Amino acid sequence: MSTSDDVRFPDGFLWGAATSAYQIEGSPLADGAGPSIWHRFAHTPGRVLNGDTGDIACDHYRRWPADIELMKSLGLTSYRLSISWSRVMPDGRGVLNPAGVAFYDRLIDALLAAGIRPMVTLYHWDLPAALDDQGGWLNRDIVGWFADYATAMYGAFDDRVALWCTLNEPWVVVDAGYLFGVNAPGHANVYEAPIASHHLLLAHAEAVRAYRAVGRHQVGLVVNLEPKDAASDSAADRAAVVRADAYMNRQYLDPVFLGRYPSEMGEIFGDAWPRHDTADLARIQEPFDFLGVNYYTRKVTRHDPARAPVFESGVPVAEELRMTTGWEVHPPSFGRILRWVRERYGAIPIYVTENGGAFADPARATDGRIEDPRRVDYYRSHLAQVRQVIREGVDVRGYYAWSLLDNFEWASGYSIRMGLAHVDYETQQRTVKASGEFYREVIRTRGAALEDRTPLTPTQR
Ligand code: FCB
Repeated sequence: MSTSDDVRFPDGFLWGAATSAYQIEGSPLADGAGPSIWHRFAHTPGRVLNGDTGDIACDHYRRWPADIELMKSLGLTSYRLSISWSRVMPDGRGVLNPAGVAFYDRLIDALLAAGIRPMVTLYHWDLPAALDDQGGWLNRDIVGWFADYATAMYGAFDDRVALWCTLNEPWVVVDAGYLFGVNAPGHANVYEAPIASHHLLLAHAEAVRAYRAVGRHQVGLVVNLEPKDAASDSAADRAAVVRADAYMNRQYLDPVFLGRYPSEMGEIFGDAWPRHDTADLARIQEPFDFLGVNYYTRKVTRHDPARAPVFESGVPVAEELRMTTGWEVHPPSFGRILRWVRERYGAIPIYVTENGGAFADPARATDGRIEDPRRVDYYRSHLAQVRQVIREGVDVRGYYAWSLLDNFEWASGYSIRMGLAHVDYETQQRTVKASGEFYREVIRTRGAALEDRTPLTPTQR
C-alpha cells in the first residue's frame, strides 16, 4: 500500500452529514401535519431553555433547495435525514397526509439529482401526539403502529432510499423521555422506562421484518454509545461502571444481537424490571443489515448514591476538554467503542450516523468567516479514529457529521451550536464555518487532509 493510499478512506466510503426533522424543519403544523410530542413539549412552559420551540427552527421545510446546494458545496455524498411521523401521518395511524409525503418525495428526488444518497431515519424522537394520547411507547400496540408507518414509508420511498434506520437512540428516548423527564414526553417514572425500552425494541424488530417483506435495500438501528471509565479504583466506582455500561451500551444491543437483556438490568431496576417473555426476545433478535453508531464522548463514572436507579454519575470535565454540552472531548474512546462493537457483536457493517462537537462559536469575524478551531480539531481527531479502526478491519462504511446546520438542540433549544454551517436565526442565513470547510477538504482528499496540521487560513479556503 502506498503512503497516499494509507491516509485515504476506502473507495465508496459515504461522506455525510445528519439532521433530524423536528430540529431543522420548522412549519410543524403546515399542510395538514399533526402535532408531535416535541411540538407539545416545547410549547409547555419551562420545558425547553428560553422557551425555544421548533416552530421555525432552520426553516428547512421551505429552504430545503438551498440546503441541498449547501450539501453539494461541501461535497457530501450522503445525507441522513429523519421523517416526521406526524407530518406524513397526522394521527400516527391510518391515513397518509399527501402533502407531507410530497415534501419528503421532493427532498429525496432533489438529493439524488445532486448526487447525494439519502439515509432515512424513521423515528428521531418526534412521536405523533395522537399516539402519545394512547400511551405512546408504553402501549404495546405501538409495535404495530410503527411497523405500519414504516411500511408506508418503504412503499413511498424505497425505490430511491437505500439506507433506512428504524430508531434513533432508543436509550435517549427512554432515559430522557421516560426516566428523567427532560425530553418529550417528559415522564419521570422508573416503572415506565423498561416498558418503553422493550416496546421500542419490539417496534424496531417489527419494522425490520416489515422491510424484508417489501424493501430491496438495507435497514439498520442507530444507537448512541459511550465508553464508561471508572473515576477511581474503588470497588464501588468499578461496579458503577459496569452498571452504567449495561444501562447505556448493552441494554439495547444485547437484545438485538444476543437475544437477551444484560444481567445487570434487574439489579438496576429492581422490581420495576419486568419478566420478559422469551418469545419477545426471540422476535427482537431479528437480523438487520447495519448498525448506526452515534458517538460524542466517553464518561468517567463514579458511584453516586443520590442518583437512582443506576446509582452513578459523571465526573465534571476539565474546562479545556469540555464541550458546551458538558461532554468531554475524548477521541480514543471513539475508536475503542467501534472496536468493542465488533468484538462483542461480530462483523456487522457500521455507519457512524452522528459525530460532532458542541462549541460556542466565536462571533463572526469581520471578513464574514466563522472560525471554530475546536470543532476543526474535533473532526480531525475523531475522523482519524475512524480511519484507524477501518485499517484494523472494522467495517465502517460511512460517516455523518452532526450536524449540517446549527439547530434546535432539544431541551437546550438554540443555545447549543453543532453545525458545519452557522445559522443566523434572525435572517436564516447559513455560513459555512471553518469546520465545514475543513470537512470539505477531508472529503475532497478522501481523508488525506487529516494529515495537514497547518491551520486553515482564509486563502487556503
Ligand atoms: C444525539 C441526537 C441528535 C443531537 C445530538 C447532539 O443524541 O440524536 O438529535 O441532539 O445528540
